[in-house]
Amino acid sequence: MSIVYDAAARTLTLHTRESSYQMQIGPLGYLLHTYYGRRAEGNFGPLHLRKDVGFSPVPHALAEETRGWSPDTMPLELSGANAGDFRTPAVCAAAEDGQRGPDLRYVRHEIRPGKYSLNGLPAAFDPGGEAETLSVTLADESLGLEAELLYAVYESRDIVTRALRLRNTGKGTLTLEKTASCCLDLPFGDWDLLHFHGRHAMERQPERTPVMNGAMRLGSRRVASSHQHNPFAILCGRHTTEDAGDCYGLMLVYSGSFELEAEQDQMGSVRLSAGIQSEGFSWTLRPGESFDAPEALLCFRHDGLNALSQCYHRFLRRCLCRSPFSGALRPVLLNNWEATYFDFNRDKILAIAREARDLGVELLVLDDGWFGRRSDDRSSLGDWFVNEEKLPGGLEPLIRGVKDLGLRFGLWVEPEMVSEDSALYRSHPDWALALPGREPFLSRSQLVLDLSRPEVADWIYETVAGLLRRYDIDYIKWDFNRSLTDLYSPALPPERQGEQAHRCTLGLYSVMERLTAAFPQVLFEGCAGGGGRFDAGILAYFPQIWCSDDTDPIERLTIQRGTCYGYPLSAVGAHVSASPNHQTGRRTPLDTRALVAMAGGFGYELDPGKLSEEEKARIRGQIRRFRKLAPLLREGDLYRLTELDDRRDYEAWQIVSEDRDESLVSLVLTHPRANPRPLHLRLKGLDPAARYRLERLEVFEAYLPEPPEELPELFSGAALLYAGLTLPRMMGDYPGVQLQLRKVED
Ligand code: DGJ
Repeated sequence: MSIVYDAAARTLTLHTRESSYQMQIGPLGYLLHTYYGRRAEGNFGPLHLRKDVGFSPVPHALAEETRGWSPDTMPLELSGANAGDFRTPAVCAAAEDGQRGPDLRYVRHEIRPGKYSLNGLPAAFDPGGEAETLSVTLADESLGLEAELLYAVYESRDIVTRALRLRNTGKGTLTLEKTASCCLDLPFGDWDLLHFHGRHAMERQPERTPVMNGAMRLGSRRVASSHQHNPFAILCGRHTTEDAGDCYGLMLVYSGSFELEAEQDQMGSVRLSAGIQSEGFSWTLRPGESFDAPEALLCFRHDGLNALSQCYHRFLRRCLCRSPFSGALRPVLLNNWEATYFDFNRDKILAIAREARDLGVELLVLDDGWFGRRSDDRSSLGDWFVNEEKLPGGLEPLIRGVKDLGLRFGLWVEPEMVSEDSALYRSHPDWALALPGREPFLSRSQLVLDLSRPEVADWIYETVAGLLRRYDIDYIKWDFNRSLTDLYSPALPPERQGEQAHRCTLGLYSVMERLTAAFPQVLFEGCAGGGGRFDAGILAYFPQIWCSDDTDPIERLTIQRGTCYGYPLSAVGAHVSASPNHQTGRRTPLDTRALVAMAGGFGYELDPGKLSEEEKARIRGQIRRFRKLAPLLREGDLYRLTELDDRRDYEAWQIVSEDRDESLVSLVLTHPRANPRPLHLRLKGLDPAARYRLERLEVFEAYLPEPPEELPELFSGAALLYAGLTLPRMMGDYPGVQLQLRKVED
């Protein structure tokens, strides 16, 4: 039993292997959040402040008993509004008479086996049959609002999911103004917020900052989770490191506009909350209707950030992503984007495919520019028929040519968009988002289709499904290259315009749901101008996402590091591209590029016809190596071997198989020094009692100042963990090292 109700103490406790989460039905039915931390038994209610702190109001019915009992100072499971708690509210709603609330009190709870699901939203599932669900219903009777708090406990995975279902139980219409999925009050401690910010081609830069007195707020208003902020953050103790200390993860399973708030209040308590972006949001809830807020995935670990990341990685791979490819080996692909951009024709693509096949590539992806009259990014989005000038005879002869070479075929689409210069726009100008009487904003010369309209969602489904029915396509790259503006839908009445952003996201999910169910044999890769929609909502449908338009491996070290605090390597689209790099002009060794791309879904994004014979031979070796390593890379546990704020000259990471039999260590030297400190690494995750054989040590493209000292062939796990090893000294620009260890059977 991972969910325990103690009727005497009125506590509901959720236990995972390493954590416990407790709530308590308090005075007047307030649902208190009494504990979330390392696994422990007991009633944690008495820990909390019951003292009049001044200017914190007390419910009328309790005023005579105690002045110390205020919703403003108690840790709450879900905070309402206009009801005595001046901290960040989780839910705000208004009644027809303008009255705003809610003031939520416990009504009932239910514990049941299995995992709840949500209406129209992606959510985790329960492949192992281990999840238990707790539903707790709170209500504000006078407002006529019920809030059902849903929790699913995955005991062995250290994950607790949360979701929120709001119901109108009254007689009048309610307007929801804020619907955070999760609110987590931590009454004690000094906390840092580790979050992931950035911009196009520089996504998910990790930033760790102390939670300030007052509220910190980040999020997106772009109707995409965005390049700028990610719907995942970690609250960690001031001294928490990669391998020790308390940390809490909060990940939203949502791809639209979101907000994430961390507030430290007057008494030092911290509230972390996240949900749909409330600015500009409203939702009309008629009597009897309900509204589901997106799911949040919570994880607590007492043993540092690596352990937290590993819990998320395993969980997303196994319990969130429904694609049959999630746990499968993926083909090594070559994408023509950086090889040709828009300038290609059938012969050129077939020549690339031929060269790619000879290198060992398995899947050829035709990127942007194959449709309509598209020869640059100014036209044709929406016209998903073949550009016969580039591809005479259509896609069939090209696909046949690719398949005859023994390769699989993949195609790029950007179906949520429309160009003004397109047949689709000319026939359906009203399908593009625009405010009445105003010219809409352009971005990359394109407009956005109004996915809140069912006929538009149907059209997108039919268009992509039509391509998949007609052609022999194995893979789809689903791109999305602008933020949404001009939010307004003629299909919605005035009082429902605040629903538009969320409805667009729901429309996207409905299309993804239908497509992935109808075409399970197709491998889908998400993309949004690189990683502008790298989130668990997309991953619920698509097992991989193009991580960034910056393919420079040195920039990717930070982008991929930031991404992997929450998301597994198997989700990270990463390719070897040309040098000098097209985005930064940096020159890097070919094998270093491959080493970094192996910390993700491995592929190539270059013109193989421009490679020297020596480079081709190296690439053949890389692909052979990747294939051997693929199961370990996909299923293994990732350990970051460096701290975020180390002043170091390298980045290093390690992957260890779940049974601890195998491990791969990778390091890239980012800054050569005249008189460097030794490159010393203490390894992680190995079995201290076992012996490991150094199977392979490859130093890639480094200038070695002296012949490297031979490393011993056999190590004890304990020696590698506690003493570590020193790697050969390297010089030059961005050399890399990979070493492989295997447990020795005694
Ligand atoms: C943005 C993507 O991230 C790129 O990989 C490429 O597909 C372009 N769009 C094509 O327009």
